[in-house]
Amino acid sequence: MVGTKHDSRQPLASGTKTEFAFPTERPTTPFTVKILLISDVHSNIHALDAVLKEERDSDVIYCTGDLVDVGFHPQEVVDRVREAGIICVQGNHDRNVIARYEAGWDADAPPMDFPDHNARRLDSAAVRFLKGLPERIHFAHDGVAYLLQHLYRGYDLIQTIMEFDGFWGETPVAAGTNRRAVLLGHTHHPGIFWMRDDTCWINPGSVGYNRPKDPSIATRYVTITDGRVRIHNLMHPHCRSRVAIGEEFQRLYRRV
Ligand SMILES: [Fe+2]
Repeated sequence: MVGTKHDSRQPLASGTKTEFAFPTERPTTPFTVKILLISDVHSNIHALDAVLKEERDSDVIYCTGDLVDVGFHPQEVVDRVREAGIICVQGNHDRNVIARYEAGWDADAPPMDFPDHNARRLDSAAVRFLKGLPERIHFAHDGVAYLLQHLYRGYDLIQTIMEFDGFWGETPVAAGTNRRAVLLGHTHHPGIFWMRDDTCWINPGSVGYNRPKDPSIATRYVTITDGRVRIHNLMHPHCRSRVAIGEEFQRLYRRV
């Protein structure tokens, strides 16, 4: 599949694996680090644990935000992220839950929605952790410079090298290499988008749940090994659709 482009709006079939390689014809430093990239965990501890088990040989783990909300185990997810040393940025759903935690809730009433539910289940240390997550980070591995942020502009895609350069340039950090990759979450649609042969942006898809329009319930994530970027579709006993998650909330609390 090397060299083929996947349109993020077209979901991958369950069980497929797509991979791309940074160009190998140019002299590079040898690849030594296996990167696991996850996003949009959404309080789904079972899916997160399935990914961590599957990719336990990863050297470093990054997450492009939305650890909590729209799921049932926010505290467990934050605890696991901290235990595993996952490097994470803050997502819009993390901010929603923080705001709800700070606003308080009616302890005599059942949770009215997922932010309310999640806020009740987080301890103060977990909230402090979520509040302390940065909005964007830069880092480099094996001669590739990375920029990690939850989203670009809402649900927009980066479509041109000019847009890519503008986004990258919002922080004054020199890449130090022509090989650059932006890592984004938010849309829950996995994809690898090449702007040039040495410049791409990647969305790993969602660990927690896929959008209702997406027919697959597979847990999505990305690995970058030996310069190859792979999108994974992991099926495990706890895979569930967004609709099923909402129905469970309704069953438990009789409100949405
Ligand atoms: Fe999300």
